[in-house]
Amino acid sequence: MSRFQDKVVLVTGAASGMGRSSCARFAAEGAMVFGIDIDEKGLQKSAEAINSNGGKMEVAVCDVSRQENCFKAVSQAVECFGKLDVLVNVAGIVRFNHTPDVSEQDWNLVLAINLSGPMFLSQAAIPHLLESKGNIINVASNAGLMGQAYTPAYCASKGGLLQLTKSLAMEFVKSPIRINAVCPGGTDTEMVEGARFPEDVDGSLISRYVSIRGNGKPEDISSMIAYVASDEAKMVHGAIISVDNGMMAG
Ligand SMILES: NC(=O)c1ccc[n+]([C@@H]2O[C@H](COP(=O)([O-])OP(=O)(O)OC[C@H]3O[C@@H](n4cnc5c(N)ncnc54)[C@H](O)[C@@H]3O)[C@@H](O)[C@H]2O)c1
Repeated sequence: MSRFQDKVVLVTGAASGMGRSSCARFAAEGAMVFGIDIDEKGLQKSAEAINSNGGKMEVAVCDVSRQENCFKAVSQAVECFGKLDVLVNVAGIVRFNHTPDVSEQDWNLVLAINLSGPMFLSQAAIPHLLESKGNIINVASNAGLMGQAYTPAYCASKGGLLQLTKSLAMEFVKSPIRINAVCPGGTDTEMVEGARFPEDVDGSLISRYVSIRGNGKPEDISSMIAYVASDEAKMVHGAIISVDNGMMAG
C-alpha cells in the first residue's frame, strides 16, 4: 500500500514503541516522516532504520511539554518537507503511585506531556492542516475510558485528551480537517517494560486492566493509526477508537 505517497507526517514519541512503529508504517507507505522526541539516540535509531530501508525520515529533539517547542517542531517539519498532512501525538509517560503520594511535580509533568503537548502541537499544526486538508490523531489509552487505580494523573491526562479530541473535532467540523483518537490497551513497549508500581498495591484492582487476550505489539496500534490517518477513513471524525484486545468490552 502507498496511502501516504507525497504526504508529510509529524510523529511525536518517535524514538520508541508505537511512535517508532508508526514512523516505520507511514514511511513504508510512502510518507515523508518528521519524528520528534526527547530521546536523541532513539530518534537516530528510528531514522536510520527507515532511511536505510529506502524510506524518508528526518528528526528533531523536542520536549512537547512546552508550547514554544511544539511550535518550533511544526515549523521545522514544514521547512523540511514543505507542508504538513498528518500530526500523530504519540509521546506520553505514565507514573504509578498511591494518590496521597503523588507529587505536584509528577502530576504537572504527566499532564504537560500527555495533554498539553497534543494541545500545543495541534495549535501549531492546524493552520497547515487546513491548507493540506489533513488530520490529527491523538494516541490516548483505555485509561482515558475507564478508571485505573494508582494512575490519577495518567487517567486524567488521557481522559482529557479524549475530550480535547472531541472539542477540536466540533470546532473544526465545518472545515476539511479530521481529528480522532486511538486508545491502545496493553502493548509491549518500553513504557510497559519500565512500569513500576508502588509497594502495597491491591493486585485485584490492577488485574482489571490487564487484557485476558494479552498485550499487543506496537505495530498493531500503528496499523490502526495509519488507517485513521488515510483517506480510507475520510468519514471518521471526532472518533474514539479502541485497539485493546477487548479490554473495554467488559
Ligand atoms: N504501551 C502501552 O501499554 C500503552 C497503552 C495505552 C496507551 N499508551 C500510550 O501510547 C503512547 C506511546 O507509548 P509507548 O507504549 O510507545 O511508550 P514508549 O515509552 O515506548 O514511548 C514513548 C515515547 O515518548 C517519548 N517522550 C516522553 N516524554 C516526552 C516529551 N516530553 N517530549 C517528547 N517525547 C517524549 C519517550 O522518549 C518515548 O520515546 C503513549 O502516549 C502512551 O500513554 C501505551
